[in-house]
Amino acid sequence: MSRRTHPATPPAPPRPWWHDAVVYQVYPRSFQDADGDGVGDLAGIALRLDYLTWLGVNAIWLSPIYPSPLVDFGYDVSDYTAVDPVYGTLDDLGRLIAEAHARGLRLILDLVPSHTSDRHPWFQASRSSRDDPKRDWYLWRDPAPDGGPPNNWLSHFGGRAWTWDAATGQFYLHSFVPEQPDLNWRNPEVLDAMAGVMRFWLDRGIDGFRVDVIHNLLKDEAFRDDPPNPDFVPGPGANPYHSLRHLHSSDQPDVHRLLRWFRRQIDAYPGRVLIGEVEYGSSVERLARFYGDGDELHLALNFSLMTLPWESAAIADHLARYDAALPPGACPTFVVGNHDRARVATRIGPAQARVAAMLLLTARNTPFVYQGDELGMRNAELGPEHQRDPWGLRVPGHGRDPVRTPMRWDASGHAGFTTGEPWLPVGDDAGTENVARLREDERSILTLHRRLLALRRADAVFTLGRQRVLPLAGDVVGYVREDGERRVWVALNLGSREVEVETPGAGGGTIALSTALDREGEAVGRSLRLRGDEGCVVVLGRNSGRGTSTPRAGRAGPHDRGWP
Ligand code: NOJ
Repeated sequence: MSRRTHPATPPAPPRPWWHDAVVYQVYPRSFQDADGDGVGDLAGIALRLDYLTWLGVNAIWLSPIYPSPLVDFGYDVSDYTAVDPVYGTLDDLGRLIAEAHARGLRLILDLVPSHTSDRHPWFQASRSSRDDPKRDWYLWRDPAPDGGPPNNWLSHFGGRAWTWDAATGQFYLHSFVPEQPDLNWRNPEVLDAMAGVMRFWLDRGIDGFRVDVIHNLLKDEAFRDDPPNPDFVPGPGANPYHSLRHLHSSDQPDVHRLLRWFRRQIDAYPGRVLIGEVEYGSSVERLARFYGDGDELHLALNFSLMTLPWESAAIADHLARYDAALPPGACPTFVVGNHDRARVATRIGPAQARVAAMLLLTARNTPFVYQGDELGMRNAELGPEHQRDPWGLRVPGHGRDPVRTPMRWDASGHAGFTTGEPWLPVGDDAGTENVARLREDERSILTLHRRLLALRRADAVFTLGRQRVLPLAGDVVGYVREDGERRVWVALNLGSREVEVETPGAGGGTIALSTALDREGEAVGRSLRLRGDEGCVVVLGRNSGRGTSTPRAGRAGPHDRGWP
């Protein structure tokens, strides 16, 4: 029946843009340097917006650009309402927002509410005396009876989570390095202050926030000890942080009340998105809880594709359980790379990185692509002189510098990233593994990303379609996306041996894209032969040829003319 006969039926709410978007993470220090100081900046990002539209992503998430002493490379914020001069000015940010919006790109900022820098004026005031009005903005405690830290909580980055302040005779809590004191989110004044920070940026037109470590915002009010983790296996490479179960130091049940508060701040600005970083290794049920009843996060970042073994059984099982666990209307996410973990091409190898890209960009989710993964960048080999990350300096083997090296734009000096001396080296393979070369190569991983993104844009089945995970076929993960009559099958060979898999349904289909980029238009009968490390998108049914063409490498496509 038509809507006209039911005037009381409320119109369907417009579909939020982030349900259909692909988010590209820019690590500002390493994207593009415009002023030659060797560090990326906002003006540099603006210069490369045409690349992002050419690639076909819809939104940019900027890792922190706020003033910071850089103890944790921007995740130690000393002023929430300014831009660090190394990245530019507030005006530069305003220009970047305007230029991104003019191209239909959204701009998301990182918000780091769990802790500030110890140089932040709030903490400077808080530590100045026990009577300071901001004392309770942070978590101060008396020593234990033996004079040691108040409890056994550990820092994510090694050592105890408490630092002694001799001047005021108390310990303060820092879940990360001592230069990152944790804010007290049970103090309403902290909420008011952060609401002001959010409004400051939302009023400037940003499209939302990616909120850092949301599970870390609240702690046990009684500050009880964390119990030991019986599953912890000590040894080289083990992270001592995992020797305890963080029952009391993180993820308290009332964090959901707080997330509803965050959501209310965002909802005052229609069309803005609230994304949360949720702890690595979270179960699908825990991820689902962060969506609340549609009143907490819009998107909870799911890192499972980075943490699960890259094996068909584990991946297929996760896909099915994740989809089933989410509340109705909640939009899943996947992340295969970011500034914190090994590059996907290093973790699972260059061939499987292409398969992962197909999974990321065709499964039901809002995908997050980390800069440089579309070039197949691997962890850089860096000498000790390039070790900057505090985590690696405190816990050997955990340094994140190798995944934060500059983007490679072309074969010129320092890969076109800077005319100065880059803050981290661009890497030996930058001469060949760069945007300028890979975009001309019809079979490159960059071309694959662009064609997957074009496919996703051209066919609503990838965004609107339901997802049915198929029974496992050896190393092959398969799922069907369905939207009305339209049915698309994705078959991903996570193994290195050729296999033959049965086509779902009776009608056969047509290959829309293979990760090898050489089978488009091939007819598929009752079965599909997949080469080792190959994934295919197959449009099922008799009319399967329609609407599946995607731009190739080279100069086809509407955005090419503007590409720098
Ligand atoms: C998560 C961020 O992604 C990471 O880079 C940072 O070190 C920690 N949160 C602490 O803010």
